Amino acid sequence: MTRPDWQWNEMQQVGTDYADLAQVEAYDHRMGSFRDVAAENREDLAKFNLPSGSWILEIGCGTGRFARAAAAAGMNVTAIDVSPIMLEFIKKKAADEGLPPIATQHSGFLTMDLPAAHFDAALSGAALHHLPDAWKLVALRNVARVLKQGGQFILRDVVFAVPDGESPEPAFEHFAGAFPNMRVEAARHVAQEFSTYDWIMEGLLQRAGFEILSRENPSEGFLIYHCRKL
Ligand SMILES: C[S@@+](CC[C@H](N)C(=O)[O-])C[C@H]1O[C@@H](n2cnc3c(N)ncnc32)[C@H](O)[C@@H]1O
Repeated sequence: MTRPDWQWNEMQQVGTDYADLAQVEAYDHRMGSFRDVAAENREDLAKFNLPSGSWILEIGCGTGRFARAAAAAGMNVTAIDVSPIMLEFIKKKAADEGLPPIATQHSGFLTMDLPAAHFDAALSGAALHHLPDAWKLVALRNVARVLKQGGQFILRDVVFAVPDGESPEPAFEHFAGAFPNMRVEAARHVAQEFSTYDWIMEGLLQRAGFEILSRENPSEGFLIYHCRKL
């Protein structure tokens, strides 16, 4: 299908991109240096509290941290990403780890070609900020579309919680300085990517048809929303 001339091209990545498996491996390692990925997975699976065999979607899966944990827990997992190299990595890693097969699709929030009302839950970590706010609403409506009624959505991302009346710049500097090994990436994130404010994100989630069940602020700049499709 041809893309209208006003359509955001999500295949043209903003921010950091990775050219080969070695770079992805290094990225995965750096991520693991400041995140407790295993703990995140346990928390997310516990929040979903779904029986094995449930249908799970990870959007912007990257190295598939959650997709692989969900597959290991016996879920039927689909993982999508706009980066072919990430999908190559996740397939190789899942095979190396002896996991049940994970379905992959080269697509993103705006281009996912998935059946409506199919998934029990969806999760996305640190990917939605790749889209400008106007496109985040399109993205979140697409997530809602592929979820069953009552289906759950966990969104983890960099979202700025700036108190009313305060300047956002100190929050930007604080975020850029919060990861000593990744200052360049963190500063580039603030300068070039599309992380937004909490009040915008919450309005977008609600307008896309989600009820926000909980909101957590696990570390500097990151928010976790656990939502339910109404
Ligand atoms: C910072 S990585 C996060 C990866 C993984 N979710 C995690 O938590 O470690 C962001 C990922 O989002 C993907 N991405 C970028 N734009 C996207 C879009 N429009 N739709 C889906 N994924 C996208 C990138 O290719 C990349 O793999």
